[in-house]
Amino acid sequence: MKIHHLLKPRLKTALLIGFLTMYSLPVVGQFPGAPAAPKGPWMDKSLSPDKRADLVISQMTLEEKISLLHGGGWAELFAHFAPSASRPATKSLGNAGYISGIPRLGIPDLQMADAAVGVTHGSVFGRYCTALPSGTSEASSWDLEVARAYGALIGRELRDQGYTMSLGGGIDLTREPRNGRNFEYKGEDPILAGKLVGAEMKALQEQGVIGDLKHYAMNDQENGRNYVNIKADKRAMRESDLLTFEIGIKESGVGAVMCSYNLLNGDYACENNYLLNEVLKKDFGFQGFVVSDWGATHSVAKAAMAGLDVEMPGNDHFGEPLKKAVESGAVPMSRLDDMVHRILRTEFAVGLFDNPSDRQEVDPEAGYEVALRVAEEGMVLLKNADRQLPLQSSGITSIAVIGSHADVGVLSGGGSAQVDAAGGNAVPAPPGASGFFGMQVWHRSSPLQAIRAKVPNAKVEFNAGTDIASAAALAKTSDVAIVFVNQHTSEGSDVPNLSLPQNQDALISSVAAANPHTIVVLETGGAVTMPWIDHVSAVLEAWYPGIRGAQAIASILFGDMNPSGKLPLTFPKSEADLPHPKLAQQPPPRPGDMKPLFPGTPFKQNTRQFDLEYDEGLKVGYKWYDAEGRQPLFPFGFGLSYTKYTYSGLKIAPGQAPTVSFDVKNAGTRAGAEVAQVYVTLPEGAGEPFKRLVAWERVHLAPAESKTVTLKLDPHYLSIFNVDKDGWELVAGGYKVQVGGSSRDTPLSGTWSVPGRQ
Ligand code: NOJ
Repeated sequence: MKIHHLLKPRLKTALLIGFLTMYSLPVVGQFPGAPAAPKGPWMDKSLSPDKRADLVISQMTLEEKISLLHGGGWAELFAHFAPSASRPATKSLGNAGYISGIPRLGIPDLQMADAAVGVTHGSVFGRYCTALPSGTSEASSWDLEVARAYGALIGRELRDQGYTMSLGGGIDLTREPRNGRNFEYKGEDPILAGKLVGAEMKALQEQGVIGDLKHYAMNDQENGRNYVNIKADKRAMRESDLLTFEIGIKESGVGAVMCSYNLLNGDYACENNYLLNEVLKKDFGFQGFVVSDWGATHSVAKAAMAGLDVEMPGNDHFGEPLKKAVESGAVPMSRLDDMVHRILRTEFAVGLFDNPSDRQEVDPEAGYEVALRVAEEGMVLLKNADRQLPLQSSGITSIAVIGSHADVGVLSGGGSAQVDAAGGNAVPAPPGASGFFGMQVWHRSSPLQAIRAKVPNAKVEFNAGTDIASAAALAKTSDVAIVFVNQHTSEGSDVPNLSLPQNQDALISSVAAANPHTIVVLETGGAVTMPWIDHVSAVLEAWYPGIRGAQAIASILFGDMNPSGKLPLTFPKSEADLPHPKLAQQPPPRPGDMKPLFPGTPFKQNTRQFDLEYDEGLKVGYKWYDAEGRQPLFPFGFGLSYTKYTYSGLKIAPGQAPTVSFDVKNAGTRAGAEVAQVYVTLPEGAGEPFKRLVAWERVHLAPAESKTVTLKLDPHYLSIFNVDKDGWELVAGGYKVQVGGSSRDTPLSGTWSVPGRQ
């Protein structure tokens, strides 16, 4: 089995998947059943996963061990389209990855599916999969219950379809707001993202499926992702991107971590001893296995000894070459056993041996429920001048719904996270369009219909927004204009800038000039700039809102739901305010840099490596804006409600793990939920003269109700990473705490001190 049969490179994958998503076929091929009931002593459930793994390993041949350390991917999906006579025999379910188990020992197959925002490639097999709102939407809820529901649903749908491992769990920080994959991730704060993904992965694994965190690490932009050498210092990494993984791992016991495409300080992430051995396995105590991103394995002994456990897909390194390396002693048998141990102990811990797959139909209703909840909690109301919202259905006679295919659907993010549109793409791709990564997929959840359902007696008309003059004319004769705009983002590329594409800024400006009651609904992967902000009356950030997105939008616009989402990332005023005003681009190829994507194909890619220095250091996201004194368009943590909350009565009980308590009151007339946020600025000696989020709580409050929130602060989140001591340190001195409803609105503040060691 050679790598080129396995469609390792991105372009070939992109072309293949582009083809697949255009044509949804009914179920084809045979699917695997449960493995034969194994009988070995390792089936004694009273033994620990580690002990059980060792018992299996003691029975394995060298070939069997090697066979668990690499696998196929994508090719099997393609094979389902071949005439049945020529279809190769495979037990793969045909998603991104497959590693055959060993029936004689009862070792289960690893059936891996991309599942960042829902299970992918369902339609190829005639299956429904729930398209959840984006990871950014989930993160905007700041709600660990929502994260658990998100993970549990993905886990259940994976398991129902026979998958045993998720490839979701993306948590690269939003350092680069133009990153095409930000929609998969959970914003710019390591503690918020880490806690959310921890809750999500724990719930996912409770469904009996192995979870995965990716892309480890510092894979924060798509441009040149295979060749960019990220330069970052240890402290900055440990307190930002790596802290996210640390928290996610500790909170979930996740079974797998995917190492990323990029290089870090000179070594590829998948052969980076510092990242894999020193930090992940030693410091974080990660007991699971490290799987390479697709095609991100670059060596045999170097990668194996640096801590990579599984090559995916293909066997160029961890097939025959790894066997030879073990035979020659370049990779000791003990390390090989450790690689296998990590896989088997994870399979035992998650229950794959004890509870073999029991496939069943996915329940769409259960999926709709979760998708709606996430979308409703995840939408962020950014502007609401003169209480334009919520709309009063009784007083409205006409509404203009404009733009962004709002008559038929809502947008989703592209790439390997793309969930197929149930019932097909609501907006058929233009003729000749292909390429999975660039293709826009619209889920069949129609804002126009959802709005009409709220105002059955009003005239609700749609204008596509492509002819700006006619859109403005419709707006002029309507009571209210709701302009839907979008920014499509996808794996494989970054957006060139933060402006809304396709003249949508001009559309908004013209509609707003025609009607002062103009409401903008954004369907974006992340932050966008808003040159028209002063001229519209309301703005709702809906992100990519999933299969029940339209219903959630309508229920917020008409006040059935009081918005409670808060931004998990900063919206800058312009690119000039970013730490890197210009997106780092891979330089043009020099002679010899263009190399075939894979042997025997005409496709070539620029393999020129380049450095990208994260010289903003610790100042990621809001920390940058605070430290540099820059005013964002909308700050981290910001989000409006239809009611008003007030804060009072801050009390601090100092200590190594201090407790803060305060009262939050709903001072308005509508019930709602407030995300109360606690930020701390460390003592001067810490060298971090800007605040960090350390705790928060979502508080549900009836009108006029007040609650006391008490939060114990985790000393780890108050510490710095001391590079000289190679460890975390709670710095002695004065700490300042700030509490409020956004990073830039903290009405309460206080201090406490940590005494120095005598
Ligand atoms: C590459 C992507 O970076 C990764 O996130 C994904 O899981 C694999 N391809 C498999 O599709």
